Amino acid sequence: EPYLDTSFIGRNIKYFDTIDSTNKKAKEIAFDENEGTVVISEEQTEGKGRLGRHWVSPKGKGIWMSIILKPKVDPIKVSKITLLGAAAVHKALKNMNIESQIKWPNDILIDGKKICGILTEMNCELNMINYVVMGIGINVNFNQEDIPVDLKDKAMSIKISKDIEINRKELLGNIINEFEKLYIDFRDKKTISKAIKVCRESSALIGKEVRIIKGEEETLGKVLDINEEGELVVEFQDGTVDNIYSGEVSVRGL
Ligand code: ATP
Ligand code: BTN
Repeated sequence: EPYLDTSFIGRNIKYFDTIDSTNKKAKEIAFDENEGTVVISEEQTEGKGRLGRHWVSPKGKGIWMSIILKPKVDPIKVSKITLLGAAAVHKALKNMNIESQIKWPNDILIDGKKICGILTEMNCELNMINYVVMGIGINVNFNQEDIPVDLKDKAMSIKISKDIEINRKELLGNIINEFEKLYIDFRDKKTISKAIKVCRESSALIGKEVRIIKGEEETLGKVLDINEEGELVVEFQDGTVDNIYSGEVSVRGL
């Protein structure tokens, strides 16, 4: 792998031509594989998004991958790994001269539309993490016709927006290189401040009026910041300010 410059992430790659879901496969093998093992597939037949949604993953058109991690941290900190992933994808794109925005906590946007989503899952017992699987899906070389009609106004690909075919191996290598640096800081130095800086600087939400959707509940507010814990700082309509933990919320524009 000419594009890889890491000590452990991506040193063991499980490659598939087709698979149901790389996250599912990664969870199946996680106990037996080392930290940093990457599962990647040309296509997913049952790609999963957040909140149990389906993730469209056509053959050869994207990066569908999952990284197995075994951090010795408190399980409540695991959602921060999603922010590390988002920052790594943003930086990797920037290295390739592609500008993007991070939509906290798990999306990357180009031209206001989603090109990447991250799904982090964990297995833990007695407050100890057994493993974490961080899945990254990127719409790289989709053409217009690869985007399902119902996603046309929400989803985008790098190729459609930039009008160029992207070298997926180069992008993959870049992402893994950037992610390893941020992950080592998180795991060993217990800091995510570099990733937070990236998320703030490229935020699609800071300064915007948004709807925060949690199950059936919907509240309106204005996003003020992303704090050092990686939480979204929101000022609600009644003037109260609160920090939102990523959990299972969706944030949408008005
Ligand atoms: P999230 O839960 O990530 O906050 P959301 O509710 O804000 O999501 P969007 O991310 O705006 O929703 O919408 C994207 C929708 O399209 C989601 O339901 C997502 O699962 C779905 N989708 C499926 N496959 C893709 C894909 N390849 N690219 C972009 N979106 C996709
Ligand atoms: C989201 O935005 O809802 C998260 C999407 C995550 C998709 C990736 S593709 C690789 C990995 N395998 C999956 O089944 N899902 C993630």
